[in-house]
Amino acid sequence: MTDEHERMMRANQANWDARTPVHLASRFYGLGERLDPARWFAAFEWEDLGDLAGLDVLHLQCHLGTETIAFAERGARTVGLDISEASVAAAAAIAARAGADVTYVRANVYDAVEALGGRLFDVIYTGKGALCYLPDLDRWAAVIAQLLCPGGRLYIAEFHPLLNALGPKPAEGEGTELLLRHDYLGGRDAVHRNATYTYTDGPAVEGATDSYEWMHGMDEVVNALTTAGLGIRRLRESDELPWPRWPQMVRTPSGWWRLPEGEPRIPLLYGLLASR
Ligand SMILES: C[S@@+](CC[C@H](N)C(=O)[O-])C[C@H]1O[C@@H](n2cnc3c(N)ncnc32)[C@H](O)[C@@H]1O
Repeated sequence: MTDEHERMMRANQANWDARTPVHLASRFYGLGERLDPARWFAAFEWEDLGDLAGLDVLHLQCHLGTETIAFAERGARTVGLDISEASVAAAAAIAARAGADVTYVRANVYDAVEALGGRLFDVIYTGKGALCYLPDLDRWAAVIAQLLCPGGRLYIAEFHPLLNALGPKPAEGEGTELLLRHDYLGGRDAVHRNATYTYTDGPAVEGATDSYEWMHGMDEVVNALTTAGLGIRRLRESDELPWPRWPQMVRTPSGWWRLPEGEPRIPLLYGLLASR
C-alpha cells in the first residue's frame, strides 16, 4: 500500500463521515420507515448463502448496516465493519432501534484482522459499492483469507464493472441512450471526485467532499481471490439493481429494477461465491 493510497483512503473516510448524515436523512435508505433489510438482497444471494443460523457472519464495508441487520435476522452472529466512525455509530443506533443484535467495528478493511482480534468467520459478505473504495485487491483478498475459517465462504454482491463503465447518469429531459464513458478494466490511477452530491437524495454533503475510487475488472477480483487460496464456487450476473440507476428502468416483480424490454440485456450486478 503506498502513502498515496493511505492518504486517499483517509480522504474517503472523512468523505463517508460527511455523507452519513445525508444518507440518514435520505428517502433512498428509507430509515424513517419500517426497516426492510431484505429489500437490498436479490433472491439468488440467499440461495447462494444458504442457511446462516448459528454462523459467524462478517459484513465488510457495512455503512449504515441496512443490509447487515438481515444476517442477524437470519440467526447469524453478526459483525459489521466500516472505516467511517459516523457510519458505524449510526448503524449501531439503527440496529438497536430494530432490536437486532449486531456488533459494529470501526476499521479499515486492510486492518480488519487486528481490529477483530484474530476472530474467524464462517461467512464474509461485502459489496454493493464496496470494492471501488479499495486500491489493492490482492491485499484485500489476503485479508479475507485470514478472516475466514477453513471452509468459510466469501460472498461478493457487487455492481458490475460494466455498470460503472456506462454513464454518466443522464440529466432530466436528456436522452436515455447508455454510452461507454468510463474504464471497464482496472489498473489505472484512482478516479478523484469532489462532489457535494452523493448517490442518494437529501441535503448537500458538507465538509469533506473529496473521494477516490478504483475500478476493478472481473479478472482482477477472481485472480486476487484465487491467488489468496480461495476457490470460486459460483458466479451470477444479474440485469437487476436494487434501485433505478437510469430513468428508463422499470420495476420487476421482485421489486428491483431493470432496463425495459427491447433494450440489450446486460449485467448490472454480480454475485460471486468463493470459499477458503
Ligand atoms: C456504498 S457503501 C457500501 C455499503 C452498502 N452496500 C450500502 O450501500 O450501504 C461503502 C462503504 O464502504 C466504506 N469504506 C470505504 N473504504 C473503506 C475501507 N478502506 N475500509 C472499510 N470501509 C470502507 C465506506 O465508509 C462506506 O460506508
